[in-house]
Amino acid sequence: MRTIVLMLAFLWGISAQDECNARQEEYGLVCVCDASYCDQPGIIDFPEEGSFTVVTTSEEGLRFNVETFPVSSEQTPDAVVVTLDREDVYQTIIGFGGSFTDSTGLNVVGLPSEAQEYFLRSYFAPEGLGYNLCRIPIAGSDFSTRPYSYDDVEGDIDLVYWNLTMEDYNYKLPLIKRAQELSPYQIKLFGSPWSSPTWMKTNGMFNGSGILLKEMWQPWANYIVKFVEAYEAEGAELWGLTPQNEPLCYESDWAINCLGWSAEDMRDWLKTNLGPTLEAAGMRRLKMMVDDFNRDTLPSYVIPLFEDPECDQYIDGTAVHWYSDKYVSADVLDQTQALSPEKFLLYTEACQGVGEDGQYHVHLGSWTRTEEYTHSMIEDINHYSAGWVDWNMAVNRLGGPNWAHGSLDAPIIVDIDAGEFYKQPMFYGLGHFSKFVLPESQRIHSVTTSNSVETVAFLDPTGRTVVVLLNTGDSEIDVTVNDNSGNFLNFKTPAKAIQTILH
Ligand SMILES: *[C@@H]1O[C@H](CO)[C@@H](O)[C@H](O)[C@H]1NC(C)=O
Ligand SMILES: *[C@@H]1O[C@H](CO)[C@@H](O)[C@H](O)[C@H]1NC(C)=O
Repeated sequence: MRTIVLMLAFLWGISAQDECNARQEEYGLVCVCDASYCDQPGIIDFPEEGSFTVVTTSEEGLRFNVETFPVSSEQTPDAVVVTLDREDVYQTIIGFGGSFTDSTGLNVVGLPSEAQEYFLRSYFAPEGLGYNLCRIPIAGSDFSTRPYSYDDVEGDIDLVYWNLTMEDYNYKLPLIKRAQELSPYQIKLFGSPWSSPTWMKTNGMFNGSGILLKEMWQPWANYIVKFVEAYEAEGAELWGLTPQNEPLCYESDWAINCLGWSAEDMRDWLKTNLGPTLEAAGMRRLKMMVDDFNRDTLPSYVIPLFEDPECDQYIDGTAVHWYSDKYVSADVLDQTQALSPEKFLLYTEACQGVGEDGQYHVHLGSWTRTEEYTHSMIEDINHYSAGWVDWNMAVNRLGGPNWAHGSLDAPIIVDIDAGEFYKQPMFYGLGHFSKFVLPESQRIHSVTTSNSVETVAFLDPTGRTVVVLLNTGDSEIDVTVNDNSGNFLNFKTPAKAIQTILH
């Protein structure tokens, strides 16, 4: 029996899992994909009863390495112990994914068509990461080659000239449609506006510190409804919206697309304009997620919105960005959740390289950045986030394009001239969640005996156990997962590694 299992595991290994085409870059290893080759982890399922599977990615070079072991009735002596409580159940998972920015699309469509297909399979297909929750900027963001809106005809308050742009037709919709075909899920798509047309604003610019002119509150709500309708007509039905990306951007003079909203104005606009307008258009089904900004704006930004029942009736959740995770305690997530426990909390944007010195913010191959991301994902989900949505799915080697001269990192870096793209360790780090923690999973309580081992645990929709583990330590360790029902899962965790355990 044992031999057969080992033989099957071996055959499975070569038939289903492709090797990373590894290349050493300045900060570490990337996996190179082009028109003729791209590594895919394949389908990695739960093992049969009495055994468990450990999937490992490590700084040293493992990428979704799969091992299956028998369950034991006792723990390894001196192991770090991860104890689960399957009865202590928290939030339900909505999903994981990234964003269909103009820059993502522009980079991808610059690749040979076979490489484009590998790119989309890598993120969306069952043999790839299985992304299922994605954000779409409503018109341009800074990750576009120009600032624009869907109606740049001065004073067109009836939106007669409103239309989608070449960016939608060339960079966003083709990728979204192929992703939908490849995905085994109904991908949940949500839109976020960066700026209104300049003529709707106090400062007449896409960036800077402008807010909406009061007489534009209704035209701007109509504009958002038109976006939902136009995307639906193109076969990209939306699941949700945030009413504004980073609404407190007007507090300083931003270089990038910004439309400022104080919490009080947001409350009033939601209840008098956007909410009723969506309702009249038959779009109340859309999940409305407010704030869409960093931890440091919580819970203060959502308090006036939640406290006003006329506004609150339109709100389904709180959207959070990642950029102040390292400066502000996760307690603010718990506080936000406690204010309105029936709403969900969801991370909707993150990317590395923000606020750093130096011209180029891509750190090819960086494990440090991967570890920081994974640490945050574990922490955010342990504090109620119902998933995690990354920012650009791809940028170029210079971290763009970005019309405002920004430069940021992404899990995949595209080199159009070389006809290649590079899967960074971050890509696999995100996949340790998206591929295994399926929508409708539920987070359960987990605790570890070591500060250098971080964990978050789930019941998958069929009730099986999924644990994501991060070892930040510099050496290999023995780990035992104790599920409190007599099952001990004993395995080794390499130095600087991320693992998903399936039982
Ligand atoms: C959208 O409308 C504007 C103004 O009428 C026009 O200049 C532009 O070409 C249109 N774009 C598309 C993609 O139809
Ligand atoms: C806003 O964008 C314009 C170009 O449209 C640019 O000249 C200006 O410097 C930007 N503002 C800031 C604060 O960066």
